[in-house]
Amino acid sequence: MPVCTGSKNLPYRRNDHFTMLLLLLLVASIATVRSSCECTSYTLSGSRRLTSNVEFYTAESDTIGDKYIRPKRHERIDVQKYIEERSVGSSNADSECVTDQVHLTLGDTSDSVVISFASTLIDSESIVKYSTNKDSFESGGNFHKATGVSTSYSELMYIVGNLYNPTMGVPEGNLSEIIKVENTSVWAYDHQTGDHYANYYNINPSNFKTGFMAYNNPYAYYDSPILHTVTLSNLDIGVEYYYVVDGNCEIFSFTIPKNKYPMQIGLTVDLGQTSVSAASIAALEAINPDLVLLPGDLSYSDGYPYLWDSFGTLIQSLASKVPLLTTAGNHEFGLAENTLSHRIRYPTPYIGSSSTNFCYYGKVVGAVNVISLCSYGGWDSNSLQYQWLSNYLATSIDRDETPFVIAIMHAPWYNSNNGHWMEAELMRKSIEPLLYEYGVDVVLSGHIHCYERSAPVYNNTVDSCGPTYLNIGDGGNYEGTYVDWRTQPDWSEFRESSFGIGELTIYNETHAYFQWHRVACESDSPGAPNYNMNFSTTCHSPGDISAYPMATSDHVWIAKPSVDVCANRYMTSPSPSSNSNSNSNSNGYNPSSGEISLIVLTVIFGVVIIVLSILLFRAYKLLNALNGTERTFQESVSPFTKKGEGKV
Ligand SMILES: [Fe+2]
Ligand SMILES: [Fe+2]
Repeated sequence: MPVCTGSKNLPYRRNDHFTMLLLLLLVASIATVRSSCECTSYTLSGSRRLTSNVEFYTAESDTIGDKYIRPKRHERIDVQKYIEERSVGSSNADSECVTDQVHLTLGDTSDSVVISFASTLIDSESIVKYSTNKDSFESGGNFHKATGVSTSYSELMYIVGNLYNPTMGVPEGNLSEIIKVENTSVWAYDHQTGDHYANYYNINPSNFKTGFMAYNNPYAYYDSPILHTVTLSNLDIGVEYYYVVDGNCEIFSFTIPKNKYPMQIGLTVDLGQTSVSAASIAALEAINPDLVLLPGDLSYSDGYPYLWDSFGTLIQSLASKVPLLTTAGNHEFGLAENTLSHRIRYPTPYIGSSSTNFCYYGKVVGAVNVISLCSYGGWDSNSLQYQWLSNYLATSIDRDETPFVIAIMHAPWYNSNNGHWMEAELMRKSIEPLLYEYGVDVVLSGHIHCYERSAPVYNNTVDSCGPTYLNIGDGGNYEGTYVDWRTQPDWSEFRESSFGIGELTIYNETHAYFQWHRVACESDSPGAPNYNMNFSTTCHSPGDISAYPMATSDHVWIAKPSVDVCANRYMTSPSPSSNSNSNSNSNGYNPSSGEISLIVLTVIFGVVIIVLSILLFRAYKLLNALNGTERTFQESVSPFTKKGEGKV
């Protein structure tokens, strides 16, 4: 019956429209919620800064360029000479003992360490023998053997002025030696024709240049030694292990720190490789630490990679026996470094904390949870670092296991020196609330080449529930001390322009004791011994206008207020997990509570739309059925019915 056919077809087409309408409404609602929730994990990095809600701080910033005076530099140490004098690494004098730069860090799992060492022999192997018995390495003894991986790299040298013309002290090399690197005129031509090759460079003092050397100048290539990395796993925590690396005749030892008290942590930043650096390393060894934290500006190689090798040799005496946790500073990022040498030579346990970036990670060690942040990575709420940190804090803080949480980063959030003043302000504004919410106890930074300790502080206001900030950028770098201080803020409790190291002792679940030990000051005596440094006990860096220019030490209890006063300082992750990524989706991203609410609203909105659509559809069907019956009746009697219609 045509009428019936027509009346059936119409509702089916309308049904398609309803389905389309329903889908459009759902898509629109989801799109609306996605845009309003700023689904950060999918935002392109190119638009990241535009979506930031962090305001730029401008007050007084214009005056810094005029006021800040760059400090004098002092010379690097002769590492080989220093080592010979200390008889450290003397075993390498033996022709069979050819590897060095032995150092270790903690592995991705709680029962592993990573041992790194370097060799220039092509047949050297990535092998470490280890045992709890020092005598095991004698013939016939029982020991474990671990095999790792090796790599090497080539890099174009980058020349900065301090290599040949430091402000103070003896240069790394003289100008004529540097010119020899740039000058290829002695060979880059055809002896018969006199034609110059493409890599012909006739260099003299008048056209000498700093910066990158020419890529086609073979003199400018740096070849690293073979860099071995071996992971020892399934170790007993708190047990001393002895080990021997392939090609090195010395027996080293280490212990993975146990969760026991007291726990001793050595702190240093901006270490470098000067005579002061050596004094800082010796001071760190003297406190017999379980762990050393070194957040940035390690070697001051500055694109001249040979200095990574000498730094590795210098720090071996400490880092071959104490695990070292590092992150990158500006001297690892800048001056053609781009973190290449740092990443390869000083690995970090970032994979174990579900990070994808070696510069930021978390690591439980003994009684502390160390959170490394990257001063030179993204920090706003769209950034991977922020998302990773949010996830780590939400899943990996267990105060029963680690009562103290320590954050490390290179550039400080709290600094009252004109040197690098406010450089990290945007990062502070973005990330400080997260650290406060989870009750981070101590924040260690450097970058400012002096020492400063804060009171517990949050948002520039003294707050007993906030972290204590320690700036120890005075490890021994070649740039000298920063002496130009601003008016001392309320939160600044101690500051001095000299060199030193930190000692943090965790005594129990609520009390830690911090000490800063001065190792040297700068000297204003031209040509003074020790590269213009002053190691006397009464030294005073010239021009230091800090609050405590003569103090040889600083010490303070870092105690947690009671849980009634500062619940955040006892905060355990709401979703603790042995796998910090267990609550993440495949992108390692956890939505915030606000975003979860929006998702719930989306679902409710969608359900309401579906129910309304069904009701409308049913109402329409009912009306249509009534109309159809009426039309059928009318058409059956209509004089305009065509011939043959109206019959089945
Ligand atoms: Fe530095
Ligand atoms: Fe720095």
